[in-house]
Amino acid sequence: MKITAISIFPEYFSPLELSLIGKARSQSLIVFKSINLRDFTTDNHHSVDDTPYGGGAGMVMMAEPWGQAIDSILEKDGEIDLIILTPAGSKFNQKKAEQLSGAKHLVFACGRYEGIDARVGDYYRDRKSVRVHEISIGDYVVNGGEVAALVIIEAVTRLIPGVIGNPASLDEESHNEIGALEYPTFTKPATWRDLNVPEVLLSGNHGEIQKWRQEEAKRRSELGQ
Ligand code: ADE
Repeated sequence: MKITAISIFPEYFSPLELSLIGKARSQSLIVFKSINLRDFTTDNHHSVDDTPYGGGAGMVMMAEPWGQAIDSILEKDGEIDLIILTPAGSKFNQKKAEQLSGAKHLVFACGRYEGIDARVGDYYRDRKSVRVHEISIGDYVVNGGEVAALVIIEAVTRLIPGVIGNPASLDEESHNEIGALEYPTFTKPATWRDLNVPEVLLSGNHGEIQKWRQEEAKRRSELGQ
């Protein structure tokens, strides 16, 4: 899978050199590139924002640098999924991660300030070669789309065959009913600071263990913990 992030802080993506994603990149399972939006400006100051029409606080990112940056990707690659990060987007979840994990090239538009001129999404929604997704990672506001893109990249890439070492753990996740959080996990020692691992997990009875885990997962998701 190809992934391109467009941002005024392309260095924000250096954590993608680490851990499983770093390894997947070295094996070319993932080809990641971050590009600087300011490289697609034409004025001396490399401006990317301006005041909002209709007034109000803050600045809005101008459409044209985004248009130039996205067009430069489309010149090389005929088909993309364009992900615009915005708190006003549809809420990201595991189902969306699964859907995106089948894409060939994900392009993340990471806005800052009060967001990106709304015409950027409208313009590319009308292009046959572009699927536009406006996505929020949750009901809170962060300073820019970069951290949101990192969350989505991690959730999506771990679903690509070969990226995580033990694919059985993916199976277990997908067999959980939607929204059910996972059961609590324990490792050695069996007693830590007077706290004991639940007896059933030491029993070796796989049927009972399975039942206990399902009940705990259900109880946790009901409690929202
Ligand atoms: N940019 C600012 N807040 C965001 C959020 N919650 N999700 C996606 N992008 C954002």
